[in-house]
Amino acid sequence: MERPVPRTVVIIGASRGIGREMCRLYAERGDRVIAGVRALPAVIGASAMSSLIQYRVVDVGSPLSVGAFQDALAGTPVDILINSAGVLGGDRQNLDDMDYEAWRHAFDINTIAPFLVTTALLDNLRAADEAKVITLTSQMGSLNQRSTGSYAYRSSKAAANKVMQVMALELEAEGIVVCPVHPGWVKTDMGGPQADITVEESASGLVTLIDRLTLAQTGRFWTWEGVEHPW
Ligand SMILES: NC(=O)c1ccc[n+]([C@@H]2O[C@H](COP(=O)([O-])OP(=O)(O)OC[C@H]3O[C@@H](n4cnc5c(N)ncnc54)[C@H](OP(=O)(O)O)[C@@H]3O)[C@@H](O)[C@H]2O)c1
Repeated sequence: MERPVPRTVVIIGASRGIGREMCRLYAERGDRVIAGVRALPAVIGASAMSSLIQYRVVDVGSPLSVGAFQDALAGTPVDILINSAGVLGGDRQNLDDMDYEAWRHAFDINTIAPFLVTTALLDNLRAADEAKVITLTSQMGSLNQRSTGSYAYRSSKAAANKVMQVMALELEAEGIVVCPVHPGWVKTDMGGPQADITVEESASGLVTLIDRLTLAQTGRFWTWEGVEHPW
């Protein structure tokens, strides 16, 4: 599919894992990347990846920090926003042992932050031509999947799916594509070494999928392989 280049791509949660690899891939093909990271020291050395990657500090758990990020991007059209930042929600997520603080934090980062960041950058997205908002959620949040445990992670990702579906409906008239995407079970700090696929496989699948998404697919839940996922 023909793709105008260069595009401006904002990736939130770019210090590690899938977000970091997506930064590399977009920059490699000539897109301009604004990489949102919690702390610059975390990416020392990473700027050597490409001069097309510009790092900016943003802690998506803090509305103040997201506001400063918004100010820094004022006037910059954003073609693609990728919300990759995420947390597992703590070690204790069981019927008989629950870390409620970690559960609330999971909702802050996994559910509320994608809404917070997307609304903060709405003017930037509106200024682009058929902008796309992608939030990495998870099949673990699929109501269709009957599996146990991980209450905090599953519920925060299920809620993020719903938030993205509602945003998609509201932004469709403005030509903005919004989709939640399952990135696969990926060998990252979060996915662990036993996971199914490498970070390179996941990120390159995601980049291909995002290229293909149009308004005809907005508001639907996708996998990194480009297959529609049941809610
Ligand atoms: N890996 C998998 O198998 C898998 C499967 C399904 C879905 N996902 C989802 O895919 C996304 C990326 O996962 P991953 O495996 O790449 O995770 P990861 O390796 O654990 O990286 C998580 C990223 O989120 C960032 N982050 C966490 N809290 C943040 C905050 N308050 N503000 C800004 N950034 C923050 C981290 O930054 P710091 O370095 O500063 O901590 C890091 O860059 C997540 O949303 C995850 O839930 C992953």
